Amino acid sequence: MDIGKNYEVKDLKQAEQGRKNISWAEAEMPALMKIKEMFEKKKILKGVKIGLCLHITKETAVLVRTFIAGGAEVALCSCNPLSTQDDVAAALALDCIKVYGYKNESKDDYYNYIRKVIEFKPNITIDDGCDLVSEIHQNHPELISTIIGGCEETTTGVIRLNAMAKDHALKYPIIAVNDNKTKHLLDNYYGTAQSTLDGIVRATNILLAGKNVVVAGYGSCGKGVAKSARGQGANVIVTEVAPFPALQAKMDGFRVMKMDDAASLGDIFVTVTGCKDVIIERHFNKMKNNAIVCNSGHFDVEVDYNYLSRFIKEEIRPLMEAFTLTNGKKIICLGKAKLVNLACAEGHPSAVMSTSFCGQALAVEYLIKKKGKLKNEVIVLPEEIDNEIAKLQLNALSVEIDHLTPEQEKYLNSWDMGT
Ligand code: NAI
Repeated sequence: MDIGKNYEVKDLKQAEQGRKNISWAEAEMPALMKIKEMFEKKKILKGVKIGLCLHITKETAVLVRTFIAGGAEVALCSCNPLSTQDDVAAALALDCIKVYGYKNESKDDYYNYIRKVIEFKPNITIDDGCDLVSEIHQNHPELISTIIGGCEETTTGVIRLNAMAKDHALKYPIIAVNDNKTKHLLDNYYGTAQSTLDGIVRATNILLAGKNVVVAGYGSCGKGVAKSARGQGANVIVTEVAPFPALQAKMDGFRVMKMDDAASLGDIFVTVTGCKDVIIERHFNKMKNNAIVCNSGHFDVEVDYNYLSRFIKEEIRPLMEAFTLTNGKKIICLGKAKLVNLACAEGHPSAVMSTSFCGQALAVEYLIKKKGKLKNEVIVLPEEIDNEIAKLQLNALSVEIDHLTPEQEKYLNSWDMGT
């Protein structure tokens, strides 16, 4: 470990590779780079301290550089013990950015690093999963009076925040960046689709064609994973608890059934529900020999890794573990049942993180503009901002679209013109 006044990272010698990776991400994130230019000109973040608890990836590094260009001070820790890209962390540390995290960090270090970000006394918090907000509210309420607001990146974090708001426990406004269309309908859908399969393939090098892939949860992420797995020639089975997404899955042509029934059929299982105990003892015991199980939902509560850990384990390849159950069958678990796309691959491709992080950047700008005027609620950004992000990305892709004529606008706003 390399430990300095402002950083704790794995190995500073990896910084050069990290810098190259960050530059490569920048090339794929032109929409975010446009916002960076705008922030740099206006210096709208001068004097603002931003504390981030996000995956320490090359894309997050581009977001960090965007905030610094706008004049902010930044401190960053990881929102998952297995997702840190050590080379990127090293590059940020050498650029004098406060950064704390290493891949496969202990639970103690995970929380130590969140506390380092808290010690930095941020005015704005950015979370992916709500751990930073939760830690501030439970153990450091003295900080709240100087916090302008926060932003949340993922579905699970928004669910936790809504629960806090319902309990009247939320003490500063938080923008649910996940709820931007340019976030959950792109990142969760296309991003999780590609990166989850990427994680499974990098970990195992397994052929997907012809396999039975069971996808638990048919929300924004599950829809993408199911469609991509089918695109690779897999036979996809969906499990759900909500009637409408289950019906959508059925009408999209997938087999839909209970996990109890899917357990004996699946070759590969992916959970993307945000819920706990989706695959547990009774399911493992029905599975085929060498069934592969992984999770791409935010927390490692979806697959019961603790149950598997009771059995003899063999690490076949890095982050690919085989557990031999009492019935003699082996269950292969990937990435210790933590986010497989970040543990076993590199997370979402930069191009899809670009629109997500445009959302983070513009949410921070919105918090500053509205300082003192927002209620302590979970807030969705105005649609104009979401549309602005879509425009930036379309420009980056050199796509032009039609515009409404005045007559068309009048027609769409009228009620008296029928057949
Ligand atoms: P969503 O709310 O759109 O969909 C979740 C679906 O799972 C819902 O349709 C729900 O009915 C279903 N579900 C809930 N409990 C279930 C159970 N026990 N069995 C079967 N289905 C169940 O949520 P979204 O956006 O798809 O996110 C899912 C999870 O993935 C969250 O934890 C989110 O934070 C995480 N996420 C992970 C990403 C990654 O990089 N791997 C990226 C974005 C989100």
